Amino acid sequence: MATEIGIDLGTSKTVIFSSSKVVLELPNAVTVDNDSWEPLYFGEKAKQTLGRTPDSLTCVSPIERGVIAEYDITEAMLKHYMKEAFGNKILRPQIMATLPPGLTELQHHSLANVLEAAGGRNISVIESPLAVAFGLGLDFSSPRGTLIVDIGAGTTDVAVVSLGGIAACDSFKTASLDFDAQIIRYIRREYNIEIGPLTAENIKIKIGSAVKRDIEVAMVAKGRNVFTGLPESFEISSTEVYNAIIDTVNSICDSIRKVLASTDPDLVADITADGMYLTGGGSQLFGLDEKISEYTGLKVTVLPDPEYSVVKGAAVALKHKELLKNVDYQLRSIKELEVE
Ligand SMILES: Nc1ncnc2c1ncn2[C@@H]1O[C@H](COP(=O)(O)OP(=O)(O)OP(=O)(O)O)[C@@H](O)[C@H]1O
Ligand SMILES: [Mg+2]
Repeated sequence: MATEIGIDLGTSKTVIFSSSKVVLELPNAVTVDNDSWEPLYFGEKAKQTLGRTPDSLTCVSPIERGVIAEYDITEAMLKHYMKEAFGNKILRPQIMATLPPGLTELQHHSLANVLEAAGGRNISVIESPLAVAFGLGLDFSSPRGTLIVDIGAGTTDVAVVSLGGIAACDSFKTASLDFDAQIIRYIRREYNIEIGPLTAENIKIKIGSAVKRDIEVAMVAKGRNVFTGLPESFEISSTEVYNAIIDTVNSICDSIRKVLASTDPDLVADITADGMYLTGGGSQLFGLDEKISEYTGLKVTVLPDPEYSVVKGAAVALKHKELLKNVDYQLRSIKELEVE
């Protein structure tokens, strides 16, 4: 019986961590019936219907840019995922869930509520960079500044953590999904071919690049000619993808610069000495660490298994809740947030 659970409800996927391992990782996608809005498929099966649904069905992404956009669908999806991860064997689990930094109490409350409605109990919500800090094992009694950058699908969260709290942060709405959108636009413009989001993501993962590659690579992909409406194959090179996404890469670099510009100079001095920690699935884009390092002049360390550092850290935070209280961080549990 699992009793302590970390949950990362991201823009692209839900990851659940329990008993020292990832027990569930599924896309946040739900296919619904257009008339009744009844969920029909969840997760991988729903994601595969993206852009391929008949007129009677819609594929919904219930989390938009890190926040719940479709409450009822998120609740149904989480119920389904909790059951998939634990069957009926779960009794009053303690949950630590994460949100991007800088959101309102209401948004924290909304996440706690949806998890409770999905069967959770004792729910706490913390900001994701703090979860990453727990996972890194940072000394929460130290005033040293640590820069954590989480490049997810929908948000780039940049935070300076010190004394177990967030000293400076911002959550930017430019992230890995925007690379996909730029690739779609580029191929339409240059080849008059329309491709779906899954193809764009595949191109990004296989040959995408934040720096000019020494050895160019290319791949063949399929789409639909916008004039003839017929299927068509095309070849695309890594240099083309680089050109298509470079503006978005630069805008992510700029997000980091903005947070550094609003950070206390002493904390910046610590960061200059230690470098930054890069995490989130988007940090795996080829050469992104090199590009960010070049742009900021800072050392960049990509965390191992970057898609899981938030959820793993949430599980660690659950074991050390007292640390959050000691350092005057307001732990938002559902009880504390209850409206009088
Ligand atoms: N090897 C890779 N190269 C480039 N991008 C990748 C790679 N692997 C995964 N990604 C991208 O990482 C993103 C998912 O990252 P992550 O799981 O951190 O996002 P999330 O937590 O769901 O979103 P957010 O934190 O923004 O709410 C997807 O857009 C995916 O395409
Ligand atoms: Mg995330």
